[in-house]
This record gives sequence, C-alpha cells and structure tokens, in this order.
Amino acid sequence: MKRTTVLAAVAYVAALALARQDPAGDPARGAQAFRDLKCGTCHSVGGEGGRSAPALDRRADSSYTPAALASAMWNHAAAMWLAMDGAGIRRPELTEAQAADIFAFLAGAARLDKRGDARRGRQIYEAKYCALCHDDPYSGAPGLASLAGRVSSFYMVAALWQHGGGMLSRMAAKNRAWQSLDPEEMAHLVAYLNTSRP
Ligand code: HEC
Ligand code: HEC
Repeated sequence: MKRTTVLAAVAYVAALALARQDPAGDPARGAQAFRDLKCGTCHSVGGEGGRSAPALDRRADSSYTPAALASAMWNHAAAMWLAMDGAGIRRPELTEAQAADIFAFLAGAARLDKRGDARRGRQIYEAKYCALCHDDPYSGAPGLASLAGRVSSFYMVAALWQHGGGMLSRMAAKNRAWQSLDPEEMAHLVAYLNTSRP
C-alpha cells in the first residue's frame, strides 16, 4: 500500500517534470503560416489584410501570452467558424508548432505562460463542462488523461482547430452553450491536463 503511494507520488512528479512549456515559435515562419492558412483573408495585421474580422494587431505587451491567444481563439471559435463557412474557407488544421509560430508573429517574440494551478484547473474543468464529456466513457469524447505532460497553450489551440468542430456539435446536441475561458483559466486548465491522474 505504502509502496503504491510512493510510486504514485513518483509518477506525479515525473508528470510535472514532463509538463511542457510552450514550444518557442518563429515570427518569420508565423508570418508565412498566417498567409498559407489564409488568416489574412479576414484579419489584418499592421494594417495589411482583410477587414471582415477583428484586426490582430501586434501585441508587444507582456500580458499577451500563449494562454491569451488560446483563450481568444477558444472564445471566438464558434463565430469564426461560421464566418469561414460563410466565406467558403475550409478550416485549416493548425498544428501546435504553427500555433507557436503565429503567436511569435503576433507577439513579436516567443513568450512564456505563467504556470497555472492544477487544483483550480480541475475546478474549471468541471465548471466548464469538460468533465461532463471527457470523464464519461459513454459520451463519445476521448479521455484526456493520456495527454498529461504534453499539453501547452499551443496544444490547446491546435486541439481546438482540429477537434473543435466535433466538440461544438456535441455541445449543441447536449444543449450546452460553448464555454469561454479567460487566459488565466486557460493556464490553470493546462496545468490540470498535465497532471497524471487515473
Ligand atoms: C473567414 C474569415 C476568417 C478567417 C479565414 C480566420 N478568421 Fe479569425 N476570426 C474571424 C472572426 C469573424 C472572428 C471574430 C469572431 C467573434 O466575433 O467572436 C475571429 C476571431 C479570431 C481571433 C480572436 C480575436 C480577438 O479579438 O481576440 C483570433 C486570435 C483569430 N481569429 C485568429 C485567426 C487565425 C490565426 C486564423 C488563420 C489560421 C484565422 N483567425 C482565420 C474570422 C476569420
Ligand atoms: C459536449 C461534449 C464536450 C465538451 C463539453 C468538451 N469536449 Fe473536448 N472533445 C469532445 C469530443 C467529442 C472531442 C473529439 C472531437 C473530434 O475529434 O471530432 C473532443 C476533443 C477534445 C480535445 C482534443 C483531444 C486530443 O486528443 O487532442 C481536447 C484537448 C479537448 N476536447 C478539451 C476540452 C476542454 C478543455 C473542454 C472544456 C473547456 C472540453 N473539451 C469540453 C467533446 C467535448
């Protein structure tokens, strides 16, 4: 029994040690990805680009963190995808590395998140209904425990672009409104998703 507890503690520490910091992006690659993925059709950066969506002006201030980008995208995803459908633009599958590059392009440099609090992350995970689907093996949603140690804010961006459509339709089917997450909540959630758990 004691031994199991010790092993569990070791696994927990190992997961924390594995917890990913946000991968560093490259501004020039980010500018390229922004063009390739057609973000500029709707968004302008520095006055250049489309006008149908909010300008994504360069954000040099330190409050603009990877979690802030993940939060903004998460919060606007439903409306953004409607606009994409309307414009006949297929939703690109952003990778984690591309999200890091786009962040570096918009922020002017790579920047790190403050580490979140896993306990608060668990509360947010429940309050925002993540648990409702992801902790219910019969819901059709994948369990997220296997992601422990691999989640960054940019991973959350990529997951949103890759799986958000499926999540959105499941939420509509369950009569749940799409949930918003502010940057702090996003950082706590990332910390929780990185802890090893049964
Ligand atoms: C078809 C048009 C369109 C395309 C293409 C598009 N977006 Fe958007 N985007 C929008 C709209 C519209 C909103 C605002 C949605 C709302 O009002 O909630 C938005 C919102 C956002 C936001 C949140 C803005 C804020 O004010 O915080 C971010 C960040 C963003 N988009 C990034 C991107 C990136 C990166 C790409 C390319 C991978 C992209 N968008 C492609 C239409 C688009
Ligand atoms: C109504 C059910 C539902 C809710 C609520 C929900 N999800 Fe999901 N989620 C899904 C489904 C279904 C998928 C797989 C979608 C697909 O691949 O098309 C998914 C996919 C994901 C993925 C990608 C998994 C991977 O392997 O990379 C992540 C991360 C995720 N969700 C996080 C969250 C978080 C965080 C919340 C709460 C803020 C949340 N989900 C709320 C149903 C839900």
